[in-house]
Amino acid sequence: MLKQTKPKGDSYYKGRAQNYNKKRLKQEWWHVEQKEMEALLETLPRDLSVVDIPFGTGRFVPFYDKFGYTIAGLDASADMIGAAREALGALYDKCSCTVGDAMDLPYKDGAFDLVVSTRFLRDIVTFGMAKKMLAEMARVTSKYAIIQLGNNFTTGRTPDDDEVMGGNLSKAGVDKLLKEHGLKVKDRRLVLSEPEIGEIYHILCEKI
Ligand SMILES: C[S@@+](CC[C@H](N)C(=O)[O-])C[C@H]1O[C@@H](n2cnc3c(N)ncnc32)[C@H](O)[C@@H]1O
Repeated sequence: MLKQTKPKGDSYYKGRAQNYNKKRLKQEWWHVEQKEMEALLETLPRDLSVVDIPFGTGRFVPFYDKFGYTIAGLDASADMIGAAREALGALYDKCSCTVGDAMDLPYKDGAFDLVVSTRFLRDIVTFGMAKKMLAEMARVTSKYAIIQLGNNFTTGRTPDDDEVMGGNLSKAGVDKLLKEHGLKVKDRRLVLSEPEIGEIYHILCEKI
């Protein structure tokens, strides 16, 4: 299996941030992610407090708002948060956004009912970082997490800490990883499937 050791973590600045939505809106699976996220949020209680890490362009904010959530977001790139402000218009004013590092979240234990994280732990940071970030996400939620992760169709293998996790884990391996971080899988929604390669899910977890 391919070992990808160059994380894309800190490169979402300026032009890349400005063009983020424009490029992603052309991806078919972006729209699947939107639909599946809305459907998963439907199953949760209303009026939750959510933190979205990394916030990116705040793509799920219209759903959070529709369900009466109190909204927070964190991203390492101020330019991405600037792009979110532009994309969201008046809705941005309902969000409390912070520039920060997912390795060390500036929130108290159990500060939120729900943490959401998409297009991040699987392919933007190394597996070593992803585990630390997962621990941080589990720490700041008191009830739920929706984490996007991928798996392959075989027995999988544990990635090295210096490589990107990608789809190296098996489905059972993903569940085990989440459990080791205090998160129990309750539901999963398929957002991308590549035959013979793997799948990506939005995974709804409850804090153990
Ligand atoms: C592919 S985007 C995903 C954004 C959004 N969650 C989505 O689904 O569109 C990756 C984001 O991770 C942010 N990022 C990279 N490293 C980070 C870190 N250490 N802590 C917080 N955010 C980080 C980037 O600035 C970028 O906005």
